[in-house]
Amino acid sequence: MRGVADLISSFTVQHWLESAAQGHLLGTEHGHHAGEREPDWLLADGTLRARAIETTVQLVVAERCALAASAALVGAAPDEASARYFATQTLDEARHAEVFRQRLLDLGVARDGVEDAVRDAAHPSLLRFADALLERADRKDFLATLVGANLLLDGMAFHVFELLHARHDAPNPKFAHTLAGAIADERRHLRFGESRIATLLRADPARRADVERLQRELSYWVLAALAEEFAQAPPPRAPSRRAARDPGKRAHWQGHDLDALAPGELEKLLAHTVLEEFKMRLARIGVTYQTPVRP
Ligand SMILES: [Fe+2]
Ligand SMILES: [Fe+2]
Repeated sequence: MRGVADLISSFTVQHWLESAAQGHLLGTEHGHHAGEREPDWLLADGTLRARAIETTVQLVVAERCALAASAALVGAAPDEASARYFATQTLDEARHAEVFRQRLLDLGVARDGVEDAVRDAAHPSLLRFADALLERADRKDFLATLVGANLLLDGMAFHVFELLHARHDAPNPKFAHTLAGAIADERRHLRFGESRIATLLRADPARRADVERLQRELSYWVLAALAEEFAQAPPPRAPSRRAARDPGKRAHWQGHDLDALAPGELEKLLAHTVLEEFKMRLARIGVTYQTPVRP
């Protein structure tokens, strides 16, 4: 069995500097290439712009939650190496919260109107998810906070970012580049989280039941938040209509032509992908996925 020190030897601050700060983020500005801006077709269409603001608000809310949870994990870490790793994840999540907040400004939200926009548009289920996770963080429960922050929140964020990236890659390179940087970071968070949870459960198998209960509760809020997001969706073809003229630029993800899917079908595809990934990760760490019931 690999020891903790062994496990996290590849997640040092030096590794983070080389892979993120001096790696995929080198030369970026707010997560995208310098000089890129939101496209005119989006800024000129009030409905699409309002919808883009609503979606971006959810990213800000999720990343603020990830920031608070990661910072709590620094303080609750049972070993110094994990604390150092979570210092790097904390900075990643702070950066994500900042670049998505910046996108709100780029979409025309006034600097002093950001908090009102977040309060008005945040999905209730996403806020409930954050409350449930941060309650574990307040209790300094390292394992529970780690499961919520890495397995569930990073897992959801990763797939949401991937779907958004696929949809915006052709019509909005600026947003797609911002997402690509966050995807690279989330991939690293997921790798660390799964390995660390596995070592904790091997050392304390009695906590498997806790993890199963927590996963069931948080999965419910994840699915409810996705339902709230897609319940508000306008016809999804609008952002990629221009790209649709070129068949080579149609948005594909998980083997599906996204331009051909209705909002309900997109929600199903995303929820299915997120859940299948949860199940796979849980199985690898010896935990059985529990289907969520309404709390
Ligand atoms: Fe993040
Ligand atoms: Fe993350």
